[in-house]
Amino acid sequence: PNLGIDEQADLLPYDEKFEFPREKLTFGKQLGAGAFGVVYKAEARGIINAEVTTPVAVKMVKRTADNMYIKALASELKIMVHLGKHVNIVNLLGACTKHIAKRELIVIVEYCKYGNIHNYMQKHREVFIDQLTDNAEKNLGKINKGFLNSVGTTGTHSDYFSSGNTKDTDHSLLYSGNSKRSGRKVSEGYIQQEWQTKYEGDYIYECHQPRPLTSGHLLGWAFQIARGMEYLANRKVLHGDLAARNVLLADDNVVKICDFGLARSMYNNEEYQKKENSPLPVKWLAIECMVDRIFSTQSDVWSYGIVLWEMFSLAKTPYPNISPTDLLRWLSDGNRLEKPPFADDRLYNVMLRCWHQKPTARPSFTELQEILGNFLEDNE
Ligand code: ADE
Repeated sequence: PNLGIDEQADLLPYDEKFEFPREKLTFGKQLGAGAFGVVYKAEARGIINAEVTTPVAVKMVKRTADNMYIKALASELKIMVHLGKHVNIVNLLGACTKHIAKRELIVIVEYCKYGNIHNYMQKHREVFIDQLTDNAEKNLGKINKGFLNSVGTTGTHSDYFSSGNTKDTDHSLLYSGNSKRSGRKVSEGYIQQEWQTKYEGDYIYECHQPRPLTSGHLLGWAFQIARGMEYLANRKVLHGDLAARNVLLADDNVVKICDFGLARSMYNNEEYQKKENSPLPVKWLAIECMVDRIFSTQSDVWSYGIVLWEMFSLAKTPYPNISPTDLLRWLSDGNRLEKPPFADDRLYNVMLRCWHQKPTARPSFTELQEILGNFLEDNE
C-alpha cells in the first residue's frame, strides 16, 4: 500500500539540497541489517565532486516493512538534516526521496571502512595492548603471543586492514607507547608492508601492517564519542540508542556516532521525550527509561557509561547473567556492572557516575569530554 498524501507531507519536505539522483548510485555489498532496515555499501557518482565517485553507505527500508519504518527512516533523515556536520557523527551526504509514495527512501551517509567498534574490538582482542591496569604486564605477554599467532594467517587483515597501500598509513595508530605501570617500552611505530622483528627488552614484537589496539586508542574513541554526543546535546537531539554497535570507525582513528533511528529532537518537548511502544535496547537504558520511558540527554549519558564498559571489556555483553526482565529490579537495588577488565579505577568511577540513579547527578557530555581529554593527555 502506498502512503497517503498526509503521511507524505508528514515525512517531507526536507532540505532539497540533499536530493541525489538514484541512478548515480551503484549498490555493493550489504553492510548490516536490522528487523526492518538494510545498509548497503554503494558508490555515488558526483556526490562530493562532479566526476568523482565516492564510497558511501546507504540505508533503506525493506520492501516488506510496515509504513512506520519508512516514517522512522524519514524522521532519522530529518534529524540528520537538522544536525548538520560534525566529525564525530556519521554525516548525511544525500537522500533519494522522489519515490517515497512507493515506499522507497534512500538515506546516503559517509562510509566508515572499519565498521562498528563493537565488531572491531572483538576482532582485535588478541592484539590488544593494555596500558592501564595492574595486569598490563601480564596481558602484554599473553597478547603478544596471541598477536604473533594471528598475524600471517590468511584472511585476517584484508577484512579490516587497508590494502598494502602506504598512503593508507594510519598515523594515529603508529604510536610510541610506554606502558605506564610497567615502565616498559611497548613499541615504536611500524614499517608498512614489511615484516619486522623488534627486540624490546626480553620479548619479540613482530608484525605485518599491524593495527594494534591499545588502551590509548580506546581513550581516544571515548573522548570523541563524548564530543559527538556533546554536539548532539547542544543541537537538542537525543540519541536514544547509544551503544558500541552504533559507533563506527573511520580512517585516522576517527570514530563516528551513527543510527539516529531512535533519535528524537527535543524541540517540541523542552527537556525530554516520552516514547510509545518502540522496542528498546534494554541493557543500554537508564533506570528512568525502563520505568516510564522518559528519555533525556542524561539517559544518553547512562548509555555512554555502558559504551565505556563495552570498550574497556573489549566488547563483552553487559549483564550476561541477568535477564532483561530482572534488570530493572537489580539496578533499583543499587547494583551496577563490575569494573571491566581493562579499565582502571578512574575510568570505572566515570562509569559509575554515568549510572547514578538520579539523572541530574550524572556528568554532562561537556564534562565527560573534559574528563576523557585529561585521561588521554595523561596517557601520552
Ligand atoms: N554499517 C552501517 N553503517 C555503516 C557505515 N556508514 N559505514 C560502514 N559500515 C556501516
